[in-house]
Order: sequence, then structure tokens, then C-alpha cells
Amino acid sequence: MGLWRDHLLPRLVHKAMSNAELAPLREQTAAGLHGMVLELGFGSGLNLPFLPDAVTRLQAVDPATVGRQLAAEALAASPVPVDFIGLDAERLPLADHSVDGVLSTWTLCSIPDVAQALSEVRRVLKPGGRLHFAEHGLCDDPQVARWQQRLNGVQKFLAGGCHLNRPIDRIVQAAGFTLESLEHRFLEQGPKVATWQYLGRARVT
Ligand SMILES: C[S@@+](CC[C@H](N)C(=O)[O-])C[C@H]1O[C@@H](n2cnc3c(N)ncnc32)[C@H](O)[C@@H]1O
Repeated sequence: MGLWRDHLLPRLVHKAMSNAELAPLREQTAAGLHGMVLELGFGSGLNLPFLPDAVTRLQAVDPATVGRQLAAEALAASPVPVDFIGLDAERLPLADHSVDGVLSTWTLCSIPDVAQALSEVRRVLKPGGRLHFAEHGLCDDPQVARWQQRLNGVQKFLAGGCHLNRPIDRIVQAAGFTLESLEHRFLEQGPKVATWQYLGRARVT
């Protein structure tokens, strides 16, 4: 427990993640989800308005429980019931092959053992189910990547363990997924080190 990590940081993250530039990326990432969906890093519920009608239930995991309070309005307005099932994507209290899809937006950067979390995602996804992701990570441009490596320690310290330098595509593939789609772009707002996007879908190989 700590004032910064458990109270101030989730509020700052909520403000930063409410950036209107992210809304179309949330919509694009949530498109095609259906049935029972697991969300890694629920945060303050900013994806709720973008869940397609075909989503019947959301299973949410996040260690920062203050996010649920910040999500109160969005939860009240959401037609999709939300179950807060756990605090850590590395240990999912879900049966094998029990979810139709998994949503992760700007969360794989922050999970300490991301390989373990993705192994859990693999375990709980039904055959044919997909991981839908919008993440930031290691940039293709070597000059930006060099700064990402240099600033990674500071970022991790200040931003709750968020890494600037994770090669999201390679991490997802190494966990046994096949990438079905992957797009890159910089956000228009924010420094290049923190805004190189990985937008895609992956299914269990
Ligand atoms: C940058 S925020 C993104 C929040 C939300 N997904 C969004 O798009 O607004 C990163 C989130 O990852 C969560 N997180 C960190 N470690 C985690 C873990 N081990 N399991 C699940 N979520 C985690 C944080 O608490 C935080 O809510």
C-alpha cells in the first residue's frame, strides 16, 4: 500500500487515459469482441462505452482497485455486467477455455511478469478466441528506441512499473500466439518514447 501507487497514480492514469485521442483506438480494439470477455487492467473502465453489443459479460482484473470507484458512472451506464474477479493478470481465477476474447489496452507494459500473464490468457481463452490489444512499446525507429531504453528505469519508477521498451509483438508471439493483425503509429500527442502504438489481434497458435 502506498499513497502514490494506490491512490494518486490511478487518478493520474485515469486523467491521462481519458485523452480523446485514445477513444478511436479503444473502439477499434474492442470491435469484434463477443460473449464472455476478460479485460486485463480494467483501470477506470474507459473501454466500457466501446464494448460491442455482442459482449455479454466482462471479467475484470486490475490491482488498482480505486479505478473501480473512478469507473462508477461508466459502470452504471454500461449494459454489460462487470465482475471484478482478481487483482493480477498473472493469476487468473478462471477455468481453462472459459472466455471468448481478451481485451488489453495499455496494460501489457505494466504487468511485472507479462509472459506469465499471457500464459494465463492462453489457458483461459476458448479455442479460436482472440487477444485484442492496443499497447505502447519499443519503437522501430532506433533513435526513439535508444531513448526508450535510457528512460525506461525512470518511467518504471514514476509510472507504476510501466515499461517504455517492451516489444509487444515479440512478447505476444513468444507466449504462443499468432498475430492476425498488427498496426503501428505514433499518437499525435505526447513524447515519441511513450506513444509508439501496437494495435492488433492475436489468436492462440
Ligand atoms: C496505463 S493503465 C491502463 C488502464 C486501462 N486499461 C485503460 O486503457 O485505460 C495500466 C493498468 O494496468 C494495471 N496493471 C498493472 N499491473 C497489473 C497486473 N499485474 N494485472 C492486471 N493489471 C495490471 C494498472 O493497475 C493500470 O490500471
